Amino acid sequence: MEGRHPDLRIRFRPGYVEVVQADVVFPNRRALITGATGLLGRAVYREFKDNNWHVVGCGYSRARPRFEYLNLLDTSAVKEFVCEFKPHVIVHCAAERRPDIVENHPDSATRLNVEASANLAKEAAAAGAFLIYISSDYVFDGSNPPYREDSVPNPLNLYGKTKLEGERVVLQNCDNAAVLRVPVLYGDVEKLEESAVTILFDKVQFSNKSANMDHWQQRFPTYVKDVANVCFQLSEKKMQESSLIKGIYHWSGNEQMTKYEIACAMADAFNLPSSHLRQITDEPVGATPRPWNPQLDCSKLEELGIGQRTPFRVGIRDSLWPFLVEKKSRQTVFH
Ligand SMILES: NC(=O)c1ccc[n+]([C@@H]2O[C@H](COP(=O)([O-])OP(=O)(O)OC[C@H]3O[C@@H](n4cnc5c(N)ncnc54)[C@H](OP(=O)(O)O)[C@@H]3O)[C@@H](O)[C@H]2O)c1
Repeated sequence: MEGRHPDLRIRFRPGYVEVVQADVVFPNRRALITGATGLLGRAVYREFKDNNWHVVGCGYSRARPRFEYLNLLDTSAVKEFVCEFKPHVIVHCAAERRPDIVENHPDSATRLNVEASANLAKEAAAAGAFLIYISSDYVFDGSNPPYREDSVPNPLNLYGKTKLEGERVVLQNCDNAAVLRVPVLYGDVEKLEESAVTILFDKVQFSNKSANMDHWQQRFPTYVKDVANVCFQLSEKKMQESSLIKGIYHWSGNEQMTKYEIACAMADAFNLPSSHLRQITDEPVGATPRPWNPQLDCSKLEELGIGQRTPFRVGIRDSLWPFLVEKKSRQTVFH
């Protein structure tokens, strides 16, 4: 990769000497990741770190000990943090992303998704940083897919509305910002409930109980490592040719599945039975409204040569093997 630091270091071991690549970072590549304790933020933090950027991750309730504590609602703390670190890039992953929680706590969700995003955008602009605001396919109503970046948004629920308003205030307050809309995410989880995809896994693996699965809403499960790589590629391109990257972008996996089909694909990935899974084809009633098919057209990024797609069965196997009950019980027996 262009600019990789050539430093080598000598490591002394009993009986031999080893010459290794020094653990160095680019002094002119500083990235700040908000929401670094969350599902996507962890992957974004890792991606920049693995590519030798000087990266600082911030979290809130889970910040310590690995990350920096930063309450994004505290405007003076955010100002101080950005002024001190002077990031070249900020990837803003922190948000309240659970639609049902947003419906029930509209004020606090708006403060985080909209007001804190506007404030961060102002600080990014003052520091001359490139800001990537992570948004959602829920800004669309899902009735007329696929959606391009310039398609007219029409969010059906409050979560989608706060994300759309977050986009608007970020672009208004920071000329140097990009919005990256993504669909439902999965990846390495701390617990299965952390993603709307991985939460299905226990219903898949406990095959002695039949399980109803939504077979109405169309989804495009997307691996957080792929989104992290897109954020990284966008940032590198921005550093090389600043005027090329701005405005709204879409990234998405390309395997269209309902929750029922996601569950069957998980079963397939782990060689588990799926005959206990039952399709529910009716539109869910009484729940927070969700778009039927908010498929994102990703050709704008593809034309820039940016993108990465991991096949779902590969990504989900890598993410879920620690949660496989059969493996855990085998480990208990043999170790
Ligand atoms: N997950 C999905 O399926 C999905 C789909 C489409 C778009 N998105 C978007 O992708 C982004 C990342 O989502 P995610 O799933 O990674 O979210 P997540 O796992 O729920 O993480 C949320 C993050 O926000 C942080 N946070 C909450 N309140 C904060 C505050 N007051 N100050 C600072 N940080 C605060 C949390 O920190 P602590 O945990 O340390 O408190 C956590 O790191 C969001 O913008 C979301 O809207 C997600």
